[in-house]
Amino acid sequence: MRDQVLAELMEEGIFLSPEALDFVLAQKEPVPFVRKAVEAMPQMPLVVTMDDLRDLACSSPLSACPPSPAIAPFKRGEVKVLKDITGNSTCEGNIIDFARYFNDRFQTIKRILGRRRELAGSMPIAKAMTLEREVRCIGLVNEVRTTKNGHTMIEIEDEEGKGLVFVNKDSDLTGAHVIQDEVVGIVGKVAKKGGMIVATDIVRPDVPITGGMAPSDSSAKIAFLSDVHVGSSTFLSKKWDKMARWARTDAVREGLRYVLIPGDCVDGIGIFPDQEEELDIEDIFEQYRALAERLKDIPDGVQLIVQPGNHDAVRLAEPQPSFPEEIARLFDSSVMFVGNPCCLEIEGRVILSYHGKSMDDLVNAIQGLSYNHPLEAMREMLRRRHLAPIYGGKTQLAPEKKDHLVIDQVPDIFVTGHVHGAGVAEYRGIKLINASTWQDQTSFQRMHNFVPDPAKVPVVDLGTGKCVVKDFN
Ligand SMILES: [Fe+2]
Ligand SMILES: [Fe+2]
Repeated sequence: MRDQVLAELMEEGIFLSPEALDFVLAQKEPVPFVRKAVEAMPQMPLVVTMDDLRDLACSSPLSACPPSPAIAPFKRGEVKVLKDITGNSTCEGNIIDFARYFNDRFQTIKRILGRRRELAGSMPIAKAMTLEREVRCIGLVNEVRTTKNGHTMIEIEDEEGKGLVFVNKDSDLTGAHVIQDEVVGIVGKVAKKGGMIVATDIVRPDVPITGGMAPSDSSAKIAFLSDVHVGSSTFLSKKWDKMARWARTDAVREGLRYVLIPGDCVDGIGIFPDQEEELDIEDIFEQYRALAERLKDIPDGVQLIVQPGNHDAVRLAEPQPSFPEEIARLFDSSVMFVGNPCCLEIEGRVILSYHGKSMDDLVNAIQGLSYNHPLEAMREMLRRRHLAPIYGGKTQLAPEKKDHLVIDQVPDIFVTGHVHGAGVAEYRGIKLINASTWQDQTSFQRMHNFVPDPAKVPVVDLGTGKCVVKDFN
């Protein structure tokens, strides 16, 4: 019966996931049931999954919506996209675009800074420079340099003008680590007859302090699997299989309903010199096909959310849109594709997911940061309310009309990948997650003495806000 149904459907170009097939076989007339179901679908999926059928079965007289034999059925949860560049890109990349882009960054973060008590009565930089008293102003940092005596000079700019800010090397403010292209508030006294402001305080937009996620009635869990790097010869296949067994059994029983992949889904091609020597799969489409196969290990009812990273086949400049149709169609319809970064609302929780490429620039620019402490780099992003402040470094930025990398909405969960570390922390009530990797140490990492922390899965209970890290080593 099973083989006959499969053969008949395959002839018509209809493929079913194993769970969907079980469900279909439980129907009185399996083949006509699938035909009708497919006709009713807005788009024919590459593989018909349990969710495609469940939605239809429960809303039509086609069947009595029987439970799936392995695990009691549950409906895939709803994911609301709050912010995503996908389909909204406006940039052409000319000079006017860049001016508009930085102006949007400045205006958005200025509005956040304007609410800070320390900056009440702030004024344009040009006006502040003419006054001989304490002044407050807000500016985008053009340049930071150290004088020959070890002091710091910061050039800031707003809509109307520029000004220099002096930070004495003996002042506590040297620890503020001001970086190029961030937006800061300055409190200080004008010196040298309007030549510069001697800073007494540097104010960051930062995120408000909250008590963290208040318990809700959700019983769903979300797992984060970053930097899968399918196609790489160091992809950790056995550890992935171990994780997949967990995802199919205990995890689902315990309430796993969402899995988010924050980028570097495949290893890509031509990402670094001689990469082909470290690839098991040298064709980019084959890499995604292999990933699609791997993702079938995650049960149908779990909503998969997939985001690109710097190894993926989308534009490198951030914000990155989600995968093009020719890649998306290689996956089951249960996979949801989003851009990078992306702000989502799941079960009432706001999740900011960003691959994390900007950490390459932040670890260079901010003293004390390192690849071994990605959570600290994430704190620096939140303090500046920006995911990738530095322009002209290793992170390419696309001059969109709006700066999509500004953290305008404060998330409950902030997740990154990219550095192949694994960690969970909290900053001002926001859960910080760096979501590990499924790639063993590469030659590049060996050269830089970096030891990854692979095969770990942070799982957050969206009801209680508690997070555990599952270890598949
Ligand atoms: Fe990666
Ligand atoms: Fe990456």
